[in-house]
Amino acid sequence: MSKKIDLKTEQDTIDLAHYIAPLLGPGSVVTLSGDLGSGKTFFVKALGSFLGITEEIDSPSFVLLKEYHSGIYPLYHMDLYRLKREEELLDLGILDMIESGITIIEWPRLAQEILPYETISLEFGFEGSNRYVRVNTEESLKELFE
Ligand SMILES: Nc1ncnc2c1ncn2[C@@H]1O[C@H](COP(=O)(O)OP(=O)(O)OP(=O)(O)O)[C@@H](O)[C@H]1O
Ligand SMILES: [Mg+2]
Repeated sequence: MSKKIDLKTEQDTIDLAHYIAPLLGPGSVVTLSGDLGSGKTFFVKALGSFLGITEEIDSPSFVLLKEYHSGIYPLYHMDLYRLKREEELLDLGILDMIESGITIIEWPRLAQEILPYETISLEFGFEGSNRYVRVNTEESLKELFE
């Protein structure tokens, strides 16, 4: 299913994170896409705080992977933009990460084949000056976002 939600204010993005956080646990994957400044990192910071993470969350763009262990579950935040091959991803230990914690993946294309069936995909964007997110999930999660 696919649903578009307006994010008129930062609080709307925080509310979305608040709604999604309790749905997540070990094995959960959330993919993020969207242009520069569309709110991906802002969303992860909010999500982290609802998961009890006390460390400062910032962008993994230059390091591929950041992990946080102060919350109720490990949180892995990856940016796959600069990876070229699926093997590199497997070498990073992505399958173990997915199993043991909550995994957030930016630029997820390279991971497409190994993502769990119930991955939640969030596509952030702008329409004029208004922000929105498109939530894509497998059909069985549909009622969660109605
Ligand atoms: N409704 C909103 N939701 C999220 N962020 C918002 C909103 N309104 C304003 N902002 C601001 O927009 C900025 C979003 O930046 P953020 O770093 O989260 O984008 P990003 O998608 O991670 O960009 P990049 O691709 O450069 O990493 C933040 O400074 C935030 O304060
Ligand atoms: Mg970012």
